Amino acid sequence: MHDARPVRVGVLISGAGSNMAALIDAGQQPGAPFEVVVVLSNKPDAGGLAVAEAKGVTTATIDHRPFGADREAHEQALDAALTAHEVEVVAMAGYMRLLTPWLVNRRAGRMLNIHPSLLPKYPGLDTHARAIAAGDAEAGCSVHVVTEGVDEGPVLGQAAVPVQPDDTPASLAQRVLAAEHVLYPRALADFCRHQIRSL
Ligand code: GRF
Repeated sequence: MHDARPVRVGVLISGAGSNMAALIDAGQQPGAPFEVVVVLSNKPDAGGLAVAEAKGVTTATIDHRPFGADREAHEQALDAALTAHEVEVVAMAGYMRLLTPWLVNRRAGRMLNIHPSLLPKYPGLDTHARAIAAGDAEAGCSVHVVTEGVDEGPVLGQAAVPVQPDDTPASLAQRVLAAEHVLYPRALADFCRHQIRSL
């Protein structure tokens, strides 16, 4: 039963932000169990920044480049921005930086990610090409809790789509992405309604 105020969600992006847009839209529905209060990008030219602003959500870029090899210092800046916006749950949505244990531990159990494969299959990159090369009949996406291992945390939800005989990585990616836009808002809503309360 969800009878509390919406959970404050911060979204991390690096690119187009189509999953981010789906999360913002879902969070703006009446009675939603979460709201996206800030979108942070590590890339100043991420297309998702303008999309978020057009939807009325505050954005900031925390460029990783000035931090050089000091990944943790970059994460501290990210975390400070999340804290400034009183973010309770972080949703990574096409955020293309590997996290250090510092940020993972700091927000343990309160960071989710969407990955374009049916985990535990195909962690990492090039998931669609790998699914096609393997001759898989289905592909899909997974929402999982972020842990120190890349794409390894507990899976909260998955959606499968068929792999068509003539699929290219791009055509399969498009089909999976459409499924991601349905799965991620649902999984985040479920998480905010049920699991976060018991953490
Ligand atoms: C998605 O396929 C996501 O699963 C992966 O990167 C892509 C991001 O797309 N991690 P978008 O930025 O949400 O449009």
